[in-house]
Amino acid sequence: MTVSIPPVIAIDGPSGSGKGTLCKRLAQRMGYHLLDSGALYRLVALAAEHHGVGMENERALADIAAHLDVQFLPSDDSDKVLLEGEDVSLAIRTEAVGMNASRVASLTLVRRALESRQRAFAEAPGLVADGRDMGTVVFPQAIIKIFLTASAEERADRRYKQLKSKGLDASLADILVDIKQRDHRDESRTVAPLRPADDAELLDCTHLSITEVEQKVMTLIRNRGL
Ligand code: DC
Repeated sequence: MTVSIPPVIAIDGPSGSGKGTLCKRLAQRMGYHLLDSGALYRLVALAAEHHGVGMENERALADIAAHLDVQFLPSDDSDKVLLEGEDVSLAIRTEAVGMNASRVASLTLVRRALESRQRAFAEAPGLVADGRDMGTVVFPQAIIKIFLTASAEERADRRYKQLKSKGLDASLADILVDIKQRDHRDESRTVAPLRPADDAELLDCTHLSITEVEQKVMTLIRNRGL
């Protein structure tokens, strides 16, 4: 008996490169499942805050990651995320939680605790996986790997507009500083650093609209026969 492995489309890249929007569109178009792996790190950071666990307590944070009580409820406009039954869809998107997520994401035990949970998203008919190490660590067998990037200034500008549109308070200058700090932390950590997989397609979208990026990626997907 042959067991068919669901195809995985891995999209990696730095904060604010547009991966989230791209992955959502691709998943919708392909009828695939969607994994927002950054949301898992954000949830660990938020759960730690709720339970009074410090960002330096690796074992306790890994324990939180292993037992995370989370539900993703997909909807047409914005997905709902429940943590221990509470709607935290907005709370996990703040810059403060993003910064702590970057801290917990540098911890080996936390990453290990989240690995099997992430792999479980790869179900038929297929998965679009959004993250930093989808193509390098979590889904090395991914049929398509994209590394999506854009200049830090462009990404800060997009993140600023995104937060404002959600009614959240934001400062462009602070976001740029945060993005640069987070890039540095994500790229320089020893465990699963942010880098393109050797077999990834590099896509710089500084001067591309989301629709242009989507078209380019759809061409790659169709060329692979999916
Ligand atoms: O994509 P995001 O901004 O929601 O991710 C939050 C943080 O989690 C970010 O600093 C990097 C980290 N992260 C990671 O290390 N590995 C992933 N696969 C996804 C996110």
